[in-house]
Amino acid sequence: MEHRWKKLLSYYKPFKKWLFADLFFAILGAAITLVLPLIVRYITTSVVYMQSKESIQIIIKLSIAMFGLVLVEAFCNFFIAYYGHIMGAKIEFNMRNEIFSHYQKLSFTFYDNQKVGQLMSRVTNDLFEISELLHHGPEDVIISIIKFVGSFIILISINEELTLVAFAFLPLMIIYAFYFNRKMKNAFKENRAKIADINSQIEDNLSGIRVVKSFANEDIELEKFHEGNNRFVRSKKRSYFYMGGYHSGLGALTTMITIGVISIGALLISKKTIEVTDLITFLLYINNFTEPVKKLINFTEQFQNGWSGYERFLEIMDIQPDIKDAKDAINMKDVKGNIEFENVTFRYEESNEEVLNQINLKVKEGEYIALVGSSGAGKTTLCSLIPRFYDVTGGKIQIDGTDIRRIKLKNLRDNIGIVQQDVYLFAGTIMDNIRYGKPSATDKEIVMAAKNANAHDFIMSFPNGYDTDIGQRGIKLSGGQKQRLSIARVFLKNPPILIFDEATSALDNESERVVQESLEKLAKNRTTFVIAHRLSTIRNAQKIIVLTENGIEEKGTHEELLAKRGIYEGLYNMQFKSRIQ
Ligand code: GTP
Ligand code: MG
Repeated sequence: MEHRWKKLLSYYKPFKKWLFADLFFAILGAAITLVLPLIVRYITTSVVYMQSKESIQIIIKLSIAMFGLVLVEAFCNFFIAYYGHIMGAKIEFNMRNEIFSHYQKLSFTFYDNQKVGQLMSRVTNDLFEISELLHHGPEDVIISIIKFVGSFIILISINEELTLVAFAFLPLMIIYAFYFNRKMKNAFKENRAKIADINSQIEDNLSGIRVVKSFANEDIELEKFHEGNNRFVRSKKRSYFYMGGYHSGLGALTTMITIGVISIGALLISKKTIEVTDLITFLLYINNFTEPVKKLINFTEQFQNGWSGYERFLEIMDIQPDIKDAKDAINMKDVKGNIEFENVTFRYEESNEEVLNQINLKVKEGEYIALVGSSGAGKTTLCSLIPRFYDVTGGKIQIDGTDIRRIKLKNLRDNIGIVQQDVYLFAGTIMDNIRYGKPSATDKEIVMAAKNANAHDFIMSFPNGYDTDIGQRGIKLSGGQKQRLSIARVFLKNPPILIFDEATSALDNESERVVQESLEKLAKNRTTFVIAHRLSTIRNAQKIIVLTENGIEEKGTHEELLAKRGIYEGLYNMQFKSRIQ
């Protein structure tokens, strides 16, 4: 707990000066609010009874002074509102950077178990709540305490009875404000949850709009949406109910304090215990002690939200990336691409069944290996162990004789090119997307890579060529085109090791041939793993590996495996026959 506080306070460190300036002006502003009624009191009790000449002069002077003080107070309030918020925004900026760069470090295992929407809300909503707390918290507390204690001391020195009358209402006000504020904030929280539901529903619907339309399910979607939308209105109604209760009730209570003070004050005046000016002073101070009540109660709420946001923030920051550089990690030079799996066993963290069990495999540099096997056998998994997307749970993988866990992650991944099963293209132009393979690449290199990947022609057929903006997820491109773009990326990267996870969604024969051609060009002089779903594409592989639930069942060239009359022959015949039909 103490450690959490320390860390929280450490975010103020770069802004110490800002924080102190903020607090200074908060205190100054609060002091001025307390002083103004005192000046009024001085005028009404003393100055007005002086000789008229003298009193006029003093009144003019004091009026000017009061105008001046009001200007200073206005400046204080401006400073707090402007620079206070900027300080909050800068702290938020730092925290956001911190969490975003932490996100970049976390491994596949982490992302497998997370919803993107929730991870996003930690960066946006939670941090907003924290920064609100961090910059409003200290000043609110200080201003409230000064105003409350200050007005209490001033009033009690004027008249004790009337002070008790005025403050007698406060407990009621505190209970009322506390209750309604709690209800109101809970209702608002509920609202946010409901709007988040609506947002994710809209996102889901829009992302899947093609599926919606293909099933002609627009009506069902509308119905689902109406339901969520209705829930939102119901929740809003509730929150407005409490909001109405909160504001009207507190307004009434404040007015009641005024009336109470006036009534009792009038009685006291008629008994000659106090002067009219005392009563005026009291009235001028009422806001000064009712406002802190509202502010402090608001603060308790703000604190809860900010703190729970902060805990969610720490929750993420405390997750250690499970895949990171070892202390003595090395950089490899001139990687040749000999890869060896030694008794490799792997199981996904949240499951208790091994996907890979005791896998032994030796691949020599420049070799072209094809992995085949039924869906779910673990082909993608096996290949994702090489760049350490996941760490083996048993055994080891070596590249050129070095355990991959001893190689710096960046160095390791720089040496491996991957064309994934479903290609992800970033929002932006085609040029940007290819350049992702090598950020320093020149335009010329990019065109060269695209040519090698057989992508140049289709790119040039677009009106904007390489500057064509592809929608998010590259929806404007066909499956084969996307794969060729991602092959171009790898051409640009030019790594010694290559992993190609063939898309399961069948490409038509023509684009399959083009992709195949560019792949074979790319594979030249590189150690290549191809996960093949269409066996026709891998006849030329130097080694075909048949992977099943039981591990590597068969190994050999196309001809050898056919002659074996085993699993591979079965798979092959099945595809071959279905093609002929
Ligand atoms: P296809 O691509 O369909 O041909 O299958 P594949 O051979 O590439 O199978 P993959 O390696 O993707 O999956 C192997 C097994 O691991 C399957 O039983 C999956 O259900 C399981 N699996 C894959 N990814 C995950 C994951 O992130 N978590 C868990 N728990 N299991 C996974
Ligand atoms: Mg796969």
